[in-house]
Amino acid sequence: MSNLSGKHIVLGVTGSIAAYKAAPLIRLLIKAGAEVQVVMTEAAREFITPLTLSTLSGRPVLCDFFDRTDGSWHSHVELGLWADLFLVAPATASTMAKMAYGIADNLLVTCYLATRGRVYIAPAMDLDMYSHPSTIASATRLREMGATILEADEGELASHLVGKGRLPEPEEIVRRLELDLEDEVHADAPLRGRHLLITSGPTYERIDPVRFIGNYSSGRMGKALAEQALRLGARVTFVTGPAQILPSPDQRLEMIGVESAGEMLQACLGVTSYDVGIFCAAVADYRVASPEMQKVKREHRPTLTLDLVSNPDIAALMGERKESDQVHIGFALETHLDLSQVQDKMKRKNFDLIVANTLEDVGAGFGTETNRVTLLSRDGSIEQTLPLMKKEEVALEILRTLPKLF
Ligand code: PMT
Repeated sequence: MSNLSGKHIVLGVTGSIAAYKAAPLIRLLIKAGAEVQVVMTEAAREFITPLTLSTLSGRPVLCDFFDRTDGSWHSHVELGLWADLFLVAPATASTMAKMAYGIADNLLVTCYLATRGRVYIAPAMDLDMYSHPSTIASATRLREMGATILEADEGELASHLVGKGRLPEPEEIVRRLELDLEDEVHADAPLRGRHLLITSGPTYERIDPVRFIGNYSSGRMGKALAEQALRLGARVTFVTGPAQILPSPDQRLEMIGVESAGEMLQACLGVTSYDVGIFCAAVADYRVASPEMQKVKREHRPTLTLDLVSNPDIAALMGERKESDQVHIGFALETHLDLSQVQDKMKRKNFDLIVANTLEDVGAGFGTETNRVTLLSRDGSIEQTLPLMKKEEVALEILRTLPKLF
């Protein structure tokens, strides 16, 4: 569901050639679940008709202080109070200057002055107007008064000059509003503002172009961790091997697909800043020393011996670089649970918490919808064996330990 769902948006449209983009913008806002009330300046009506915008928004477009047919009053105060968001797109230099100095000679500016919600201004004008000290001064003043200016794009302008001044594409404007509203939606979410790096799934180590060494990891445990972290307000970078099961797309989710352990390591090293690393991937410990370039044929090689070399230990290498304000959580997949070995693994890889699961437990480990885990923290404050639970619940229990680990 979009963060714009249920939001009341007053969309101010002013006299710029980019006014035509107000039409797809309204459609996208409505598709995202918002209610849109359009307010146009007189000049805007020269570029796009109120009929087009009222048809798309499903509401009569307001242009004047009162209705010219029946004289009824359009209350800018009511509109200002109704608006959760006041968006001017496109905004001309003239409207920006009027807004900056409170020159309330049209309905749009009076609405702005009565608005208590967030204000967004998307300028669109010729490049010299955009970079003129007067426009820059208006933008600076509006910013100081709390408005967000959505920077214009570069490109060919109506004058055929090339430069900065194009209205950003409607998709980009909507994306920007949705991102900004994240703070509001997750205002009291426990992981809000935290960035998690999660590894998931198996890795495939190539034998030849058609064969690989892999394992049974489905990606289900990693998916559960990512989705629960997103639900708790975190931003997630999800580095996944070739898994069947992946988290649903989300604005705060960055998904990086890799194949081998080497690629997974490079992807993890590329994640520059994160607060929590969770190493859930079942990484192959060995790879073929010299993978074949052509398919190996049984007719030519009735038996095949593979020479395997050790893969990098991603969790251990990331553990060496771990900063004091970062938390690392690792997994241990055992065929028989020996807590002292699990403790050793935690120390070797510099984990703050380890999640041990064993294939001895029915319903635990690879592929299953459930898991049964033992949580051990490095400082000894957590030592807990959880009952068999859905992987989503296990993920939530793991994430609940974070406040203790920070
Ligand atoms: O994906 P599913 O089907 O839902 O299955 C979930 C799971 C069984 C894969 C998961 O619960 C799990 O146990 N993941 C870790 C599997 C594993 O590789 O365990 P390990 O004990 O071999 O490794 C210990 C830790 O080092 C793990 O955090 C692992 O990600 C990491 N590691 C291991 C080897 C390596 N070369 N690099 C690593 O980073």
